[in-house]
Amino acid sequence: MPRNARYDVLFEPVRIGPVTAPNRFYQVPHCTGMGMDQPASLMRLREIKAEGGWGVVNTEYCSIHPSSEDAPYRLATLWDDRDVATLSQLAERVHRHGALAGVELWHGGIKSPNRASRETTLSPSGGPGHYVYPIQTRAMDKDDIRALLRWQAAAAKRAMQAGFDIVYCYAGHGYLPFQFISPRWNRRTDEYGGSIENRARLLREMIEVTRDAIGHRCAVAVRLAMDELMGEAGATHEREGREVVSLLAELPDLWDVNISYVENDSMSARFSAEGYQEPYVAMVKKLTSKPVVGVGRFTSPDVMVSQVRRGVLDFIGAARPSIADPWLPRKIAEGREDEIRECIGCNICRAHNNMGVALRCTQNPTMGEEYRRGWHPEQVPPAAGKTDKPILVVGAGPAGLECAMTLGKRGYRVMLAEAKREPGGRVSLESRLPGLSSWARVRDYRLAQIERLPNVELFRESSLSANDVAAMDCGHVVLATGATWLKNGVGFANGNPVLDQTAPNLLTPEDLLAGVVPKGRIVVYDDDQYYMAGVLAELLLQAGRRVSFVTPGLEVSTWTAMTDEQMRVQTRLMAAGAAIHLARRIEGWDGATARFASIYDGSPLEVSGDALLVVGARQARSSLERELRALQATGGLPQVETIRAIGDCRVPGAIYSAVYEGHRAAREFGETVDPDAVGYTREMVTVDQRETGP
Ligand SMILES: Cc1cc2nc3c(=O)[nH]c(=O)nc-3n(C[C@H](O)[C@H](O)[C@H](O)COP(=O)(O)O)c2cc1C
Ligand code: SF4
Repeated sequence: MPRNARYDVLFEPVRIGPVTAPNRFYQVPHCTGMGMDQPASLMRLREIKAEGGWGVVNTEYCSIHPSSEDAPYRLATLWDDRDVATLSQLAERVHRHGALAGVELWHGGIKSPNRASRETTLSPSGGPGHYVYPIQTRAMDKDDIRALLRWQAAAAKRAMQAGFDIVYCYAGHGYLPFQFISPRWNRRTDEYGGSIENRARLLREMIEVTRDAIGHRCAVAVRLAMDELMGEAGATHEREGREVVSLLAELPDLWDVNISYVENDSMSARFSAEGYQEPYVAMVKKLTSKPVVGVGRFTSPDVMVSQVRRGVLDFIGAARPSIADPWLPRKIAEGREDEIRECIGCNICRAHNNMGVALRCTQNPTMGEEYRRGWHPEQVPPAAGKTDKPILVVGAGPAGLECAMTLGKRGYRVMLAEAKREPGGRVSLESRLPGLSSWARVRDYRLAQIERLPNVELFRESSLSANDVAAMDCGHVVLATGATWLKNGVGFANGNPVLDQTAPNLLTPEDLLAGVVPKGRIVVYDDDQYYMAGVLAELLLQAGRRVSFVTPGLEVSTWTAMTDEQMRVQTRLMAAGAAIHLARRIEGWDGATARFASIYDGSPLEVSGDALLVVGARQARSSLERELRALQATGGLPQVETIRAIGDCRVPGAIYSAVYEGHRAAREFGETVDPDAVGYTREMVTVDQRETGP
């Protein structure tokens, strides 16, 4: 289809110093959890972005020296010439598709604990580092500053040798040049401290040495955090942001501006809307003639056009939208913008980054699997063989929808049966909760794709029993029937049931998702420790209920720390007046009073309420699978060759794991899978025993 003329402006080439980007789609630096440990995976991931039409594709943070290292996280490095070989292949793969390749040179300073390299952690003024860790940081003297500038210049030269087009000076996310700018970290009294001009001196010198090192062959970019969102205690966009850009306005070839730290910059949809960074960065274009990149979970081409037309940004920066849909620009270019797999802002990608493993994405199940499993986000292998009979997929939640869609794209005939009128399963229900409306995109993208596939039929209000399936003419059955929340108090803290499930006023999330809003004071017991209890507590507080939030966790919604949301979740509940009790596991509920014990010494706590909402473990809805297998074993399903359970009915998990399982089942359909084999290509260093010395 031809491109919609409304979006033409997004496809204009833009000059960045000595190089020209083919369009305005700019994949800002983002980690992959692969770094130099998994170079083939890294290259494939970046190449697919370039193939998908991003005009600029950047690396993740790329360390310039072993004194900038934050193991166990995986990063890129340009420490010596051996790194050049790997990164030059990456740049070459990006160039193959007409995109520019950028590299984000990085020194973390106070945020580099150097646990692996054992180098001294450097900082503007000494003192404890960013991570709670028993080794402090050293205040940089002039020799240290000279060394830093040398490392930056040497890494920039290597970047140029590797073939990069854009080389960064990275003063964002609280890293070293920004630590000099922020009043939080810089207490120096020399020419690098005090006035903003002095505090920006290090960044100025880094830009200068970078330019000297690479001449005018590559562009020099600056990534600058405009605001720390801490008010006067940190840098603000009106003070440091504005002044640093004004002081250095024409020095770099490009400004890439955002807010700090990652929990602000990569804010989840629960706490921010598309374009949320505009108030902090809108001024930048007025202060410089150089092109400006900004971010803000941009997935709508109309919002992107508006950013350009209103003079806010020259480039549409994207990390998460490019993870959820690496082919986003190409879809707009081909007039297929309604096929964009929009990021839902759940921050599962951030969680995997925070856990130090390869990225995973709720919307894009191929993320992190591009090389090791050979999965492409937009291309699936055609059907492996002819199947006369259709495949029955039972359940149109995240797993079932993904599986049916992918099987359909492969060319198989699929019957998708959903018990309810509304497909989507848990995402349909959960997207009605506060802050989670964008989660419906998991359903909407897949439904829209399925509607285009004549070989996939969706049957609503079709609750199937084993006998119903036996009467159907299907050759294979995929079960995606979901899971239910348990009422018995089992969770991370209690392995065995502790609650009498017949007790009155005992609720689970399912009740609230079905529209029940109990009256009075509600005791919310959270031993799921992800988002559900916090969101439901919010729902109850919004409805004017009083809430006591009790958890065995040491903080509210513990795992949301992984999605960079924990501080905001707890702050919001505190502000809304929830009474919070931490480190308590449940022992009983009599309909009016809940009994808890401290996880440390067992000391008791009683909390009374009109209802107890238990958010604990879930149980797979696996009865249909059991019945079908029993029927199959007795010859009652002669037409069905295979039965496979996926998603929550196999093992309850997060939405991204259900989507992954649905995708995997569809990819593996018709293939011979060896259950004893690793199943994917591993990137590993192998050592010849004879060569290992003492
Ligand atoms: C998984 C992940 C890893 C990131 N790693 C980096 C990084 O290495 N360097 C960097 O400057 N920003 C990093 N970021 C921040 C992004 O570049 C971006 O500024 C932020 O996510 C907001 O943009 P978005 O709304 O398009 O995601 C990362 C973001 C994500 C989601
Ligand atoms: S994991 Fe969630 S936030 Fe991250 S890119 Fe995917 S959909 Fe967006």
